[in-house]
Amino acid sequence: MAADLVLGIDSSTQSTKALLVDAGSGEVVARGSARHPDGTSVDPRAWLDAFDQATDGLLDRATALAVGGQQHGMVALDSADLPVHDAILWNDTRSSGAALDLIAEMGGPEACADAVGSVLVASFTSTKLRWLRDHEPEAAGRTHRVLLPHDYVSRHVTGGDPFTDRGDASGTGYFSTAEDDWLPEIAEAALGHAVALPRIVASGEVAATTASGLVVGAGTGDNMAAALALDLEPGDVVVSIGTSGVASAITEARICDGTGSVTGFADATGHFLPMATTMNAARILDLQARLLGVDHEELGRLALTAPPGANGLTILPYYDGERTPNRPDSTGTWAGLTSSTSREDIARAAFEALLCSLADAVDHLSGQTGLIPRRILMVGGAASNEAVHAIAPAIFETPVTVPAPGEYVALGAARQAAWTLAGSKAPPSWGLADARTYEAEPTPHVREAYALLRDH
Ligand code: XUL
Repeated sequence: MAADLVLGIDSSTQSTKALLVDAGSGEVVARGSARHPDGTSVDPRAWLDAFDQATDGLLDRATALAVGGQQHGMVALDSADLPVHDAILWNDTRSSGAALDLIAEMGGPEACADAVGSVLVASFTSTKLRWLRDHEPEAAGRTHRVLLPHDYVSRHVTGGDPFTDRGDASGTGYFSTAEDDWLPEIAEAALGHAVALPRIVASGEVAATTASGLVVGAGTGDNMAAALALDLEPGDVVVSIGTSGVASAITEARICDGTGSVTGFADATGHFLPMATTMNAARILDLQARLLGVDHEELGRLALTAPPGANGLTILPYYDGERTPNRPDSTGTWAGLTSSTSREDIARAAFEALLCSLADAVDHLSGQTGLIPRRILMVGGAASNEAVHAIAPAIFETPVTVPAPGEYVALGAARQAAWTLAGSKAPPSWGLADARTYEAEPTPHVREAYALLRDH
């Protein structure tokens, strides 16, 4: 008998990706995708159209489905469940002042981290609710319900009672990672009145079954879904290079970092997923590629013909405001330009800036969790670039393992769907596709130059 097919969705910042996967083996049998509008605030109904397009011809072949989605975004709905405002995304920094106000109201950074697992920054949903209260009071007043992006997309499939999971909920700023439950009074304080929150469903449990018999899992945040796909082992650190840069690891104990450099999220298996996140990642390469009139691949080739340190050119890549470190109003800095700076140096400096910023994220993560990275797993679009393979181990001073290129968020969502369908205690074991490990001579002087510019 043919195995069931499960559908995993990644509703990310830039697009929806759908993978139809064999529930028994984890083999991808079909895929679809559709773009999202650009911008840091978006009519969330565009994600539903993208879902319909990306899953066309796949949905009716699936027995179960789960949605992974970009974390944190605020989907505020009125009593008819229509958006009162564009969804404000994780990378929109307009609510950085609101974050400071909420932290103060919660008793300071330590108390805030203790209550919700993280010190709030503009990414968190609660800060966006406060921004809405203060700047769009009419829309705030009409807000009846608030969902996360993945909840909103799941609900498009199931209709009825909306639901979420503890992983994505832990990025709202009104979920207790100690109690594993909502803190509705914090959502209320942020928005100015009580608001309906989705039901929390455990990973592996059936959230809903549609009229056509499709079993729908809880879904989760994109980073939690990627961790589920990678089947992390103790000592593994995942570095993901997407629109955001992320360093994360699975821990048994919850992390509450009052310094704010590590967010103490819950994961999608009942453990925790502490994470250091940067707001500028693949876009660092985009800028350089655009300026040099090349694609990422050619940028990588150019970079590899310049020496480590790019002949003294150092870039601080906090172009669109940054979160690690928390500098919401920052812009980028290029330092050390001379009249002989070459295209190759400019290309190399971009990769070095990206990887130094990610190495800072890994340091924050290991500083707060005590975890000594045994191995760094690198995923995300830019992880397949040959310059990343050559430069990352030199900057991290650790071997870097790159799993075969894949849609790990959608795959993690598919694995959750298969788990839900099986009704088993643990997710099915799918094994990790081929991975390659890269090593290089350390280049500490590159990080030193970066740190000087960063701390200047
Ligand atoms: C994590 C974060 C990003 C988004 C990207 O806190 O904000 O990684 O999840 O989609």
